[in-house]
Amino acid sequence: MSVVGIVPAGGSGERLGVDRPKAFVVLAGRPMLDWSVQVLASVCDRVVVAVPAGHEEPPDRVIGGASRSASVRAGLVAAPEADVAVVHDAARPLITRDLVERCLAALREGETDGVIAAAPVTDTIKQADGSGRVVRTLDRSTLWAVQTPQVFRAGALRRALEVDEATLARATDDASLVEAAGGTVAVVQSSPENLKVTTPLDLRLAETLLELRAPQGV
Ligand code: CTP
Ligand code: MG
Repeated sequence: MSVVGIVPAGGSGERLGVDRPKAFVVLAGRPMLDWSVQVLASVCDRVVVAVPAGHEEPPDRVIGGASRSASVRAGLVAAPEADVAVVHDAARPLITRDLVERCLAALREGETDGVIAAAPVTDTIKQADGSGRVVRTLDRSTLWAVQTPQVFRAGALRRALEVDEATLARATDDASLVEAAGGTVAVVQSSPENLKVTTPLDLRLAETLLELRAPQGV
């Protein structure tokens, strides 16, 4: 059974506002992307990265798409041998090998099409209308803040990604596309430490946390 890591790294990092694509920003001594690739490579048979045009290096660094999910699809197309896909954003450099292994074990032992890392919500979440008036308070005990890795039976993910570019662009994660295609997904509890680097503050936090880790970074 072939387990392939797919890393969407094709974004520009507009909100971070630096001089290069976000995945290539140096973080605790190495490009942000390398932290994730190292962890995935220790668990997967192969890791395919979807990068901005100009950074491609076939066969494992392929050109990404116009949206995050289009980049995931480009990565998966380059890995036709995959039986299981481990999708993980380059923007989450604090991934651990333990988290990937727990997601894969849950996929193997369960019957769902996908298993996703997520942290229980700690804030109270309210829904408001366009004017800011609160409509309702949601039951926090059932809510999860979703992260990556997201692991899938590759056939289910391939089918879910067979949608038009506009649908891909609206999706904020891959599991939602699998759900929309009728697939089943389960959560595995993760730590909020597996944060996504979006803003300069996130970058400083991630760097601090990575520097506190053991030297091998995994
Ligand atoms: N991504 C991608 N292809 C795109 C857009 C995003 O592979 N066309 C990747 C990013 O590189 C990142 C992940 O998807 O690893 C999550 O996206 P996000 O955090 O939004 O990163 P960017 O799109 O680069 O940032 P921004 O939205 O601020 O421009
Ligand atoms: Mg983006």
